[in-house]
Amino acid sequence: MFDRERTSIGILGAGIGGKALLELFTLFPGVDVIGIADSNETAPALECAHQKNVPVSQDILCFIERNDIDLIMNVTGDPTIDDLVSTHKHAKTEILGGAGSNIFWNLIQQNTRIQAQLFQAEKLSGLGTFASGIAHDINNPLYVMVGLAENILEEQDIEVIREQAQTIIDAGKRIQMTCRNITQYARAANRMDPVNVELTHALDEAIKIAQYAPILQDLTVVKHYAGPINALANPEELLQVFVNLFTNAIHAMKGKGTLTLSSWAENGSAKISIADTGCGIPSESLEKIFEPFFTTRPSGEGTGLGLHNVRDIIKKYHGTLAVESLVGKGTTFLIQLPATLAH
Ligand SMILES: Nc1ncnc2c1ncn2[C@@H]1O[C@H](COP(=O)(O)OP(=O)(O)O)[C@@H](O)[C@H]1O
Ligand SMILES: [Mg+2]
Repeated sequence: MFDRERTSIGILGAGIGGKALLELFTLFPGVDVIGIADSNETAPALECAHQKNVPVSQDILCFIERNDIDLIMNVTGDPTIDDLVSTHKHAKTEILGGAGSNIFWNLIQQNTRIQAQLFQAEKLSGLGTFASGIAHDINNPLYVMVGLAENILEEQDIEVIREQAQTIIDAGKRIQMTCRNITQYARAANRMDPVNVELTHALDEAIKIAQYAPILQDLTVVKHYAGPINALANPEELLQVFVNLFTNAIHAMKGKGTLTLSSWAENGSAKISIADTGCGIPSESLEKIFEPFFTTRPSGEGTGLGLHNVRDIIKKYHGTLAVESLVGKGTTFLIQLPATLAH
């Protein structure tokens, strides 16, 4: 019987189309990509398939004849393969090729573009809420700089002038640091290949940015890092993940409480937990928080895309994201990523 709960897909063609399908389907619930076939063993999607543990085949005919594929997606762009598939496929296998797969491919491209824009939109909306915190962070050292510079204009004692000039330099450096943090966060994630990221360093960078959250008043950050741990990811995306989780936590605590960050290695996995002492999430909402546009914030304040993006990014790097929460006590998010050795 055809199991409508899960669909097993075989991809024919490991070019750019096959690669986009692979990347898309690994984020789809209910879909298993059970193989990808291409007669060219250097086709671009094959490397990606290895990384995602999707079996690769060079024997197209043998692949088509498999009896465990619900849907073959032919993105080879080769019309003779369409014929081959319809003649040799197993009776229960459906085919999406030719015009159908063309339309699908266009939809995917559109989806990929929209997805990238939503990522950026969520980030910029976060940045909007940080604006007053950032202005405050720049204004304080600026105030010091202007005051001291005015003093220097009147000051005769060279030693005092030197001392005050040094304080001006330090204040200027603080502003430089703030600007560096912000630009790093605001930059759209480039599409580079994943690199080794030291996760505790990434957590520390993200805390610096989350501290601009407007309602931050009395927050204690406790760190339990069991040494450095590495995972393969895009550092800008990881920064987005952590900043999102921290700002959610800060909102939930209404600026007052304890944020506990822990990291450790376990059975080849890098684990991170982010625990807050905030309002908690009622059990009926726990399933919904990862859905796009689910938000309990007043309209205009939340996009509801934060956790959706967080989960997509973690999945992309073959990790998992879990949540535990008790109303009135707090919430813990647990991230697991495959650990790598540092170079
Ligand atoms: N740490 C947390 N504590 C309590 N509620 C949370 C926490 N993180 C997320 N939530 C809930 O999940 C919803 C969705 O979060 P998210 O996807 O980041 O969107 P947004 O922050 O824009 O509302 C939030 O509106 C909030 O109700
Ligand atoms: Mg959020």
